[in-house]
Amino acid sequence: MNTAVTTRKQVNVFMSDVMAGLNASPKYLQSKYFYDARGDALFQQIMHCRDYYLTRCEMEILSVQSGEMAALLSGDQPFDLIELGAGDASKSFHLLKALIQRKSLHCYYPIDISANIIAHLEETLPAKLPGLNMEGLNGDYLDMLQMTRQRSGRKRVIMFMGSSIGNFTPPEALQFCCRLRQQMNPGDVLIVGFDLKKHPAIILKAYNDSQGITKAFNLNLLHRINRELGADFNTDNFGHYPVYDPLTGSCKSYLISLAEQTVRIGEAGTVRFRKDEAIYMEISQKYTLEEIHQMMESAGFKPLRHFHDTKKWFTDTVWQCL
Ligand code: AVI
Repeated sequence: MNTAVTTRKQVNVFMSDVMAGLNASPKYLQSKYFYDARGDALFQQIMHCRDYYLTRCEMEILSVQSGEMAALLSGDQPFDLIELGAGDASKSFHLLKALIQRKSLHCYYPIDISANIIAHLEETLPAKLPGLNMEGLNGDYLDMLQMTRQRSGRKRVIMFMGSSIGNFTPPEALQFCCRLRQQMNPGDVLIVGFDLKKHPAIILKAYNDSQGITKAFNLNLLHRINRELGADFNTDNFGHYPVYDPLTGSCKSYLISLAEQTVRIGEAGTVRFRKDEAIYMEISQKYTLEEIHQMMESAGFKPLRHFHDTKKWFTDTVWQCL
């Protein structure tokens, strides 16, 4: 999900978001800015690294149980499948294959905020999946979703996989699900991937991997601010500090200033950091099944089925719109 900022307007928005975050108390940066070209590459490495179990678990679910999932989703008429934040579609690939075999799929609409990702999918996916009818959509999830609603009267199945919902706080996640619900018609289906609460040490390790990839992923945002906004962060002066609270299920990542320092952010001015001051970078929220039910049902969805990996660390949950 490369979110490279290219136009002057995008640079201005990036600058004002960075300045708002670094002048706030406590300081924060928005995790959506992790994903420039280098951030995308680092996230690919995270997904393949041993300590980050989430991708492996969800891949197991989809590679083993896509046939059952396709049977659950299929009815008399073909439907449209819409994927929010499709990335390289490597997980949805299995489901797409099963749906094409059953002749249940009318059109696949991957939505991504990266135009590069959409162009790449449109170029490569039809060759890998003969018979696939697809149209990539580049833009904001909810805007694009509305467009697909206006375009067809068919049933729509919406996928939000990979525990992306975990990058919202629980109140934000509920609000997002309510907004999704407003964009859906009764009978439409929503599939959401959640990372489940488990032993705290397993979760913490996933965000503090022994190879230091997640550390580099967090520090990369400072490099990006240097490059795109003319800042002068010395990344050696910041440490990566993730924490997991087993009671709330929130895993939060921080960068810690290792010294008292002043950093220039291009034309916008300077920011002072106290020694040991934290910048809040990202939340990766974990849930119990009960918490998931409570949230999804209060957003207006009825459970259809949950698919788990063999360890029961992750779940892809299927919901019908009431
Ligand atoms: C994209 N998202 C679901 C990842 C997560 O697990 O929160 C992003 C990530 N950040 C550090 N490692 C992975």
